[in-house]
Amino acid sequence: MKMAGKTAGSTRSADVQVTFLHRLVLYVMLLAMVSLVRAAVPVPDIPLPQDAKQCVQPKSIMRREHFNFLYHQRDETMRRGIRTKRYSLVNCVSCHAQKDAKQQYIPINEKGQFCSSCHEYTAVKIDCFECHATVPVSKSAGQ
Ligand code: HEC
Ligand code: HEC
Ligand code: HEC
Repeated sequence: MKMAGKTAGSTRSADVQVTFLHRLVLYVMLLAMVSLVRAAVPVPDIPLPQDAKQCVQPKSIMRREHFNFLYHQRDETMRRGIRTKRYSLVNCVSCHAQKDAKQQYIPINEKGQFCSSCHEYTAVKIDCFECHATVPVSKSAGQ
């Protein structure tokens, strides 16, 4: 009887220890996950349009998919001659480009500007603006 009581007691304290260890392991894993997620999600200061409230898709989708939309749009235009406005790069620039204090447009790929803000942060490099306009272009100028 004495023995049994002792066994039960030590099992209980072992249980408590296991639970504590579990909690500790979980907590450490959680911390690691949080820092991983922090590293993966870009949180720079992103300058947003002042006179528009919405993007061409909800923000969460744009964050994840914008380049797919752009690549798809490029392929549609270049290969199939389909030209639409929604995912046109010209359209992104015309809404997202910021103006400086003199009301002049700042190139959208300049340091800290819309397209570069996250890319610098996540070390993404794009060559799009070697050819495409970095500021809104007037309608008459075409591209
Ligand atoms: C070597 C020059 C060059 C580079 C680099 C380039 N493009 Fe283009 N792109 C063009 C030309 C030329 C067209 C056709 C212009 C037209 O007819 O509208 C075009 C068309 C497009 C279109 C369809 C027109 C529109 O705006 O809807 C998209 C979208 C596009 N490019 C996105 C991109 C993206 C994104 C990148 C970077 C990953 C990129 N391009 C890099 C030259 C380039
Ligand atoms: C009519 C104006 C307009 C156009 C056109 C537009 N956007 Fe946006 N975009 C916005 C606004 C406003 C927000 C912020 C939305 C919000 O806060 O919910 C935004 C948000 C975003 C975000 C998320 C930014 C963040 O803070 O996470 C990305 C990425 C983005 N846009 C990319 C693009 C691309 C790429 C294009 C072209 C295919 C484009 N946008 C076209 C107005 C526009
Ligand atoms: C909210 C942050 C954010 C904004 C704002 C943003 N991007 Fe991105 N962009 C990213 C991230 C993150 C990636 C890398 C995604 C990946 O590789 O999974 C990326 C990737 C891309 C790629 C693909 C690069 C490759 O190597 O294939 C293109 C093209 C691109 N972005 C264009 C743009 C353009 C054009 C703008 C401005 C109109 C813009 N992005 C604004 C975060 C952003």
